[in-house]
Amino acid sequence: MTAESGAVSAAGGPSLEQALADNASLRRHASTVAHDFNNLLAVISGYTDLMLRRLRPDDPMRRNAEAIKRATEWGLALAQQVLAGSRQPPPPPAPMDLNQLVTNVTRVLQPVLGENIELTTRLAPDPARVSVNAHQMGQVIMNLVVNARDAMPAGGQLVIETANVGQVVMLAVSDTGSGMDEETRAHLFEPYFTTKEPGRGSGLGLATVHDIVTRFGGQISVMSNAGSGATFKIYLPRVDDAASSAAPRHAAGIQTVLVVDDEPEVRDLIREILELQDYVVLEAGDRESGLALAGRHAGVIDLMVVDVGVPPMLADEWVKRVRVTRPDVKVLYVSGYLSDEGSMDAPKLGPLVQKPFTVGAFTKLVRLVLSGAQ
Ligand SMILES: Nc1ncnc2c1ncn2[C@@H]1O[C@H](COP(=O)(O)OP(=O)(O)OP(=O)(O)O)[C@@H](O)[C@H]1O
Ligand SMILES: [Mg+2]
Repeated sequence: MTAESGAVSAAGGPSLEQALADNASLRRHASTVAHDFNNLLAVISGYTDLMLRRLRPDDPMRRNAEAIKRATEWGLALAQQVLAGSRQPPPPPAPMDLNQLVTNVTRVLQPVLGENIELTTRLAPDPARVSVNAHQMGQVIMNLVVNARDAMPAGGQLVIETANVGQVVMLAVSDTGSGMDEETRAHLFEPYFTTKEPGRGSGLGLATVHDIVTRFGGQISVMSNAGSGATFKIYLPRVDDAASSAAPRHAAGIQTVLVVDDEPEVRDLIREILELQDYVVLEAGDRESGLALAGRHAGVIDLMVVDVGVPPMLADEWVKRVRVTRPDVKVLYVSGYLSDEGSMDAPKLGPLVQKPFTVGAFTKLVRLVLSGAQ
């Protein structure tokens, strides 16, 4: 028999609700930052493991460093967002496909799981449209996945599932781990409740999940018995996609970005950042294929993020070639090599962002360029 603790509202006693209604102070609490930072450190170590396995004699440190850097940037951006969030109202929700978000987030989380956990995703065949903030919903999935991993130290099965059920979208995260007893189930969502040893868990993960899900009008339930795994289910109101699918995507404000960079690690990072902001991303590993892609893509390309390469002047030449057929396409250059500011060599057709960049600075610049202010 499976015990189910009801969604949140069924929690007895004083005050989960109270504690979370009081979440202005919870959010402000510095340990929230520490908590999310912890999860991201797991990402960092996961990537480091991956890199160590792939280590090639010619070029070992660079690849490791790239991945570590990338996860660290995520961590920094998240911390910044949490800190900023304590001063500003949370970003407004927007309609998006939960399937897409699950795909993006699991791609980043894969290395965290290690070799002994098998991840399966079962996504609804139709778009699972909900109105959420992608970054916060990403945090929700991340917290559930990290908890599942922690419950399976010796490995197991992790299943992430989405389904459209009438007017509701369900997201389920199931594991075959230790499960939990009744006592734990009763306190699960309380801030600071943890069964992990000191220094390992802050007990803020599920409190944050609850907070975010209820803000988007959703509910959570958990099914688990000690020893037999756990399933967390999140239900969110389904957003009618009639309005958004009737209009072309551009009318809904979704913009397309072509990323041209020969380093896959950097390209991945840029793509993940952009996709989390709901941009549609096209990718090319070199300028020739970038040009070809720009030629055959049927829709609008709003922006190109282009690695400057060597020599830098040629980057402008390439952009001019694209603009023969796409005169309005905007450009943002990225570079790891130009260090002298205002160097005569710097390309002129778009602003330049230096690697390594922070996620926050990068997204800000993307928005600026797209708005025409840069
Ligand atoms: N998938 C799961 N399987 C078994 N127990 C779980 C699972 N998810 C959560 N729990 C239990 O719920 C507790 C609270 O989880 P929560 O995510 O809020 O905090 P934490 O994981 O302990 O710490 P933090 O997330 O802050 O690092 C955990 O300590 C654990 O006992
Ligand atoms: Mg947790």
